Amino acid sequence: MNTLQKQIISDIRKHGPLPFIDFMETVLYADDHGYYTSECAVFGADGDFITAPELAPPGQISLFAGSIARYLAQHHAALCRQTLIEVGAGSGRLAVDLLLSLQQLDCLPAEYILIERSRVMQQRQQALLAEAGLLDRVSWQSLPPQQAWNGILIANELLDALPVERFRRYQNHSARLAVDVDDNDQLVWTELPAPAQLDAQIKTIRKRLDDAQVDAWPLPYTSEICPDLVDLLAALSGNLHEGMLLLIDYGYLRHEYYHPQRHMGTLVSHLGHRGHFDLLARPGEQDLSAFVDFSAVLEAAASCGLQPVSLQTQAEFLLQAGIDQLVTPYLETDDSKAMLQRTAEFKQLMLPGEMGEKFKVLNLIKSAQHAPSGDSL
Ligand SMILES: C[S@@+](CC[C@H](N)C(=O)[O-])C[C@H]1O[C@@H](n2cnc3c(N)ncnc32)[C@H](O)[C@@H]1O
Repeated sequence: MNTLQKQIISDIRKHGPLPFIDFMETVLYADDHGYYTSECAVFGADGDFITAPELAPPGQISLFAGSIARYLAQHHAALCRQTLIEVGAGSGRLAVDLLLSLQQLDCLPAEYILIERSRVMQQRQQALLAEAGLLDRVSWQSLPPQQAWNGILIANELLDALPVERFRRYQNHSARLAVDVDDNDQLVWTELPAPAQLDAQIKTIRKRLDDAQVDAWPLPYTSEICPDLVDLLAALSGNLHEGMLLLIDYGYLRHEYYHPQRHMGTLVSHLGHRGHFDLLARPGEQDLSAFVDFSAVLEAAASCGLQPVSLQTQAEFLLQAGIDQLVTPYLETDDSKAMLQRTAEFKQLMLPGEMGEKFKVLNLIKSAQHAPSGDSL
């Protein structure tokens, strides 16, 4: 049993079952022992899961970052030259590759700010940026600038790492899922009465779905709600005067998220590149994430004065950004290793069965002056 598991068991014995949202917060972010706050979390081939910026061979600009940089330079150059903020930057790989690409495109931002809640992750980012000779181009802050700022904020796979409430809907009531401990010191699921706020949120979701869809929910129906979206978007965009947020993550709109067939929700654990549903196992040693309800993000964004420009699949967005032009030279090269690596990277980013359709790119703006590009909502 690891240290964090002992701590969780002791807390549950003292205070009673731990609501799942608090369990998720603890296993991901508890000081020193959480998945993202210990040495555990590893992105990439040697780790538990691989994110789009990590798909390229080390030391080479990823097709993902290169495409985003092209998109920014072509469609939002004036904003891009001001402030660029990346939230939840993980290993720092996207920051390195974006800065290198933007330099090539003569579209470097005046400042590149990293916002990262995990100290361990910040240290990894610092090391990677130092290795790339880019340390003097970036700074770490806990929030976007306190004064009005113009520019672009990017977050890849941030929203799926936010703790969620897990609920269970019965015929006439809803329960809040929580974690308890049994006589053998095993963490087990239990149910608590849904607090008024969660109950109201579940009712709102049901109201906004078609009656037929709600009626088709197999009961009990288990799913998730992310309650922190409004606060997070407000904190990130509150002082944004003119600019854009690019939020990239795996998720669905509400009618797909709360589909009758998805009656066990979307939470998933990752350990050693294996996705599984033993969510309570090995606390702090495995990743835990939930798909993003993009309808909820759109509503949270609207309440923060952000306007949606487009919600595209990752494949659509990257094509629009010109990923085909970035990959073409590798298809024509005599270097067969490079050709194989880059075609594999391209396929993982683009194919519907890989990241191409599951991942979405949401583009939000603060000012109407910056004309939409991409498919309008
Ligand atoms: C799934 S990882 C994604 C990392 C990286 N963006 C990538 O694509 O490889 C989520 C990252 O977001 C960070 N994070 C989670 N919540 C955050 C918050 N509220 N503010 C800043 N960073 C956060 C985590 O510590 C972690 O570095």
